[in-house]
Amino acid sequence: MPPGGSTVRGKGHQPRDVTPGAERGRVVRLFAMTRPAQPPKPDRKVTTLRLQEMKVAKEKISALTAYDFLTARLLDQSGIDVILVGDSASMVFAGNDTTVPMKMDEMVYHVRVVTRAVKRALVVADMPFMSYRKSPDEALGNAARLMQDGMAEAVKVEGGRSIAPTVERIVDAGIPVMGHVGLQPQSIHTYGTYKTRGMDELEAEKIIDSARAFEAAGAFAVVVEKVPMDLARRITEMLKIPTIGIGAGLNCDGQILVTPDMLGMNTQFHPRFVRKYAKLSEEMVKAFSHYHQDVKGRKFPTEAESY
Ligand code: KIV
Repeated sequence: MPPGGSTVRGKGHQPRDVTPGAERGRVVRLFAMTRPAQPPKPDRKVTTLRLQEMKVAKEKISALTAYDFLTARLLDQSGIDVILVGDSASMVFAGNDTTVPMKMDEMVYHVRVVTRAVKRALVVADMPFMSYRKSPDEALGNAARLMQDGMAEAVKVEGGRSIAPTVERIVDAGIPVMGHVGLQPQSIHTYGTYKTRGMDELEAEKIIDSARAFEAAGAFAVVVEKVPMDLARRITEMLKIPTIGIGAGLNCDGQILVTPDMLGMNTQFHPRFVRKYAKLSEEMVKAFSHYHQDVKGRKFPTEAESY
């Protein structure tokens, strides 16, 4: 399938190429040359090439995280462009304090259940802590697992210049890589804090250098996390590949949030950059208590709800 080709994840989750065959490809190319550019169809499969087009067209990229089938299906139905199976699952799904404990097997499982649900969005799988740091060979093996066992369409790695050879190796094998700069949650034990990164010029320059290194190594996009908005703007203007911000202001090419955060499911996490689009924690507690009272009061189930 050509990158950016018009493909849809079909039934049985095999990508369906709707332009098969060299002859047909030639006809399509000739037709495209004589035809004015068409606005993208809303159901057009999102690819890494499509994200690049969105940057050029200054169309914002929407991204959210998913870790389970039902949420992934709803995100896809809502038209979200990129679904990240983030290692934030370690915190918001598994209840750990950091993303560090996430294992490859766990990530493969989450990625597989998400890709089973998604037809249109680009699905990116986070590479867990230490799964891409020991050697480019091991990193490639782990990235391949996320693509073949998880059916991801791209992987994401945190870091900068030092992992550029690893990024090159993965990209060279045909696996699209998304970089992650600024606050890198997998380095929390080095930082000792989740505070904003790049506040001084020295660290800001380092973050810019990391973003440049990702681009030069062949990454197709870079997540920029929790940096001053002016720094994110500089990076966005500097790079040809799209930037996807989280806590990085309004000038990135796209935005991402952790889905349970934006749904208001976590009653203990209220950073400035998370806009709550729902108050699901309140709704869920209300529903659970109501159910509890109904069961205790013998109001559920009724005869009409029985066989
Ligand atoms: O793991 C994750 O959810 C992420 C996002 C915060 C970008 O990396």
